[in-house]
Amino acid sequence: MAIVGAGRVGCALGRRLREKGWRIGPVITRSMRTARAARRRIGTGQPQAGLSDAVLAADLILIATPDRAIAETAETLARILPARRSAAQGDDKDNRSGSARQTRGPRKSGGKAWRGKIALHTSGALGSDVLRPLALRGAAIGSLHPLQTFSGRNTPSLAGCACAIEGSTAALPMARRICRELGGVPVVLPQRRKAAYHAAAALAAGHVLAVIEAAVHILVTVGFPRKRAVRALLPLTRQTLANYERLGARAAWTGPLNRGDFSVIERHLEALRRFPREYREAYDALSRLGVNVLANGSSSKKRQLEQALTRISTD
Ligand SMILES: NC(=O)c1ccc[n+]([C@@H]2O[C@H](COP(=O)([O-])OP(=O)(O)OC[C@H]3O[C@@H](n4cnc5c(N)ncnc54)[C@H](OP(=O)(O)O)[C@@H]3O)[C@@H](O)[C@H]2O)c1
Repeated sequence: MAIVGAGRVGCALGRRLREKGWRIGPVITRSMRTARAARRRIGTGQPQAGLSDAVLAADLILIATPDRAIAETAETLARILPARRSAAQGDDKDNRSGSARQTRGPRKSGGKAWRGKIALHTSGALGSDVLRPLALRGAAIGSLHPLQTFSGRNTPSLAGCACAIEGSTAALPMARRICRELGGVPVVLPQRRKAAYHAAAALAAGHVLAVIEAAVHILVTVGFPRKRAVRALLPLTRQTLANYERLGARAAWTGPLNRGDFSVIERHLEALRRFPREYREAYDALSRLGVNVLANGSSSKKRQLEQALTRISTD
């Protein structure tokens, strides 16, 4: 396989697959420095700066560039033609220069070069249709999104993690196979649902950090040293998550909204006036999200809680 875009996800998946015995060929980033670093993290592969026909040696091309670069990457890949034999046999200088051997328009030989290959990207929000230029060349296209966070500082386990997969008939089995190989649980998701699916992932990952960081900032403002603020809040969050896992959202929810203590919520909102506007707005928006949990399916309870929140949150 070739890895195009060997950053946090490309390296982590490459490393895990190498450990499982997969053969990794080209490891492609935008510079030789990052490509070599990627090879070190993966533990194998041929580092390469920029796209070249070397990718055509692989049967599977894993595209793990940032979402905004996937369409352009697919277009560039689709323009790559097999080099003549002498050039294809490892002209390392070309790899170092990062020049992509490409043509501007479609050519028949390029179509043949891509036939039978599988290209998968790892975006959670985009469907495989973004790889259409490769499909037009004859490649099978799909996507494989591991529902895990990759910080680049470690290689997180994917055991038990859901992997959203979709793609053409020929690509889907490969996406499923990679997911299972990594210990993940494949979930077939139509591409029209991916944006909403990924919004959920963003809420459960990065947005959780935004909330905790806001809480830390508030504690710092009332006098906690930052480290102590983090240490004070993490046990609270951990226990809440543990309760959520064991008991569910309704039973795990504590706090004034659960108790119907609207005067306390009013005091919170008043105190948050001393912070940037988004603190108060986020608190209010999250309380309204919380209503969905606390109303427990009762529309009259939901209306009642919403009305109470509207009364106290009006500027
Ligand atoms: N990070 C996560 O937690 C996570 C989880 C699941 C899925 N994903 C998805 O996985 C994909 C990659 O995310 P990531 O976090 O691994 O990104 P990343 O760490 O920023 O790595 C991106 C890689 O693509 C290369 N690249 C950047 N811009 C490029 C461009 N314009 N053209 C060609 N290559 C380019 C980078 O090269 P250089 O190294 O030379 O800059 C780097 O190797 C995204 O679709 C993302 O949504 C991410």
